Amino acid sequence: MNTNELFSSYKMENLQRTLLVIFLFVTIKCPNALSQLLMNGMNEPNMQLDPDPEFIGTINNVTFPAGREAILACSVRNLGKNKVGWLRASDQTVLALQGRVVTHNARISVMHEDMHTWKLKISKLRESDRGCYMCQINTSPMKKQVGCIDVQVPPDIINEESSSDLAVQEGEDATLVCKATGNPVPRVTWRREDGEMILLRKPGSRELMRVESYQGPALKLARLERRQMGAYLCIASNDVPPAVSKRVSLSVQFAPMVRAPSQLLGTPLGSDVQLECQVEASPSPVSYWLKGARTTSSYSGSISNSALETGQPGPEMLLDGPKYSITEKRDGYRGIMLLTVRSFSPSDVGTYHCVSTNSLGRAEGTLRLYEIKLHPGIATINDDQLNFIGGLEESRNSALSTAKHRISWQHLSLHLAITAQLVCSPLSIILRCLSSSLRMR
Ligand SMILES: *[C@@H]1O[C@H](CO)[C@@H](O)[C@H](O)[C@H]1NC(C)=O
Repeated sequence: MNTNELFSSYKMENLQRTLLVIFLFVTIKCPNALSQLLMNGMNEPNMQLDPDPEFIGTINNVTFPAGREAILACSVRNLGKNKVGWLRASDQTVLALQGRVVTHNARISVMHEDMHTWKLKISKLRESDRGCYMCQINTSPMKKQVGCIDVQVPPDIINEESSSDLAVQEGEDATLVCKATGNPVPRVTWRREDGEMILLRKPGSRELMRVESYQGPALKLARLERRQMGAYLCIASNDVPPAVSKRVSLSVQFAPMVRAPSQLLGTPLGSDVQLECQVEASPSPVSYWLKGARTTSSYSGSISNSALETGQPGPEMLLDGPKYSITEKRDGYRGIMLLTVRSFSPSDVGTYHCVSTNSLGRAEGTLRLYEIKLHPGIATINDDQLNFIGGLEESRNSALSTAKHRISWQHLSLHLAITAQLVCSPLSIILRCLSSSLRMR
């Protein structure tokens, strides 16, 4: 054996050894490659490699009201030895791995159904659960799918950021605010509690328009008028029950205004006569009646003028009792003051004042009461059953000189009311008108 032969036999041996090493290495490190080699070699169709895992469909996004439960389902085929995990997408927190919850949240659970589906269940939903969740397979590279949960929240009104009851002077502006939270974002609707229309000033206009409701968190009321006073309701709704509402009471304040519909009242002796004043005031006024000093009358000789002789005494405040009945009816900022003078006598002739005061001012109405001498014939016909309850009312638009008067009186026992329209001028002939009216009857 020469060196050449020796060398070549050595080379052959070496090559065999190297091939064996390579074969062993391949067998150990890449069993699949080998089996693949073998399979290819054997041409066997039934024996396939495990295919890669893949998702079946997509995860449905879900929407549920707070307090309920939400379920996200992730379906995977060919999982093999791989694992499925659920993560919170926002911060990548792992919530569950295969069938096990790994987070400390008692409201989270996982369910493995029908071999393929891994469900993430969150019970007693909170707003903080809103967001997207990731279903992951630990392949390399990793595979993932995302499903999102929207949590609906019923509306709530934030009291601290909403209007409470408010009082505004007439002519000033007011804005009623109602701040509401919820998901979806709630709509805010304003209505009047009493069902009346809301009066809104058109921008750049003096006119008020009437609307049944107003949409929006801020109800702007410019240059308030007293008829806009009242309780307003803001109602927040977003189709997630229950809707909520808040009541805001708006007080429009102004000094009292007093009107006496009948300023001149004639009545026969012995009858009861009622004096009326109409009052508008806010805040609620304190109201009372005063009887002024007696004055002489051109059409009654029965009144002594002692008051004039002794100087004008101060006005006397009238109190509810046997002689006077004093009542007051109120409806919102409107009121009616009624004074009934019982058993009218000559000393009751005179001037009466209805006075109304509140924090913003004072107003008074003045009425005069005089005696009507009944025509003797009439008195015998009607006995004592005829009561005069009305008086003279001046029409608003007529000039004083040709004042138009309405006289109404009532026959109490017959429930008969007579109203006559008379045009009398000047006042001194009222009595003549009256007696002619009586005679007409
Ligand atoms: C679910 O919502 C997310 C985020 O809004 C969106 O990207 C995804 O396409 C939605 N999935 C489905 C199935 O609609």
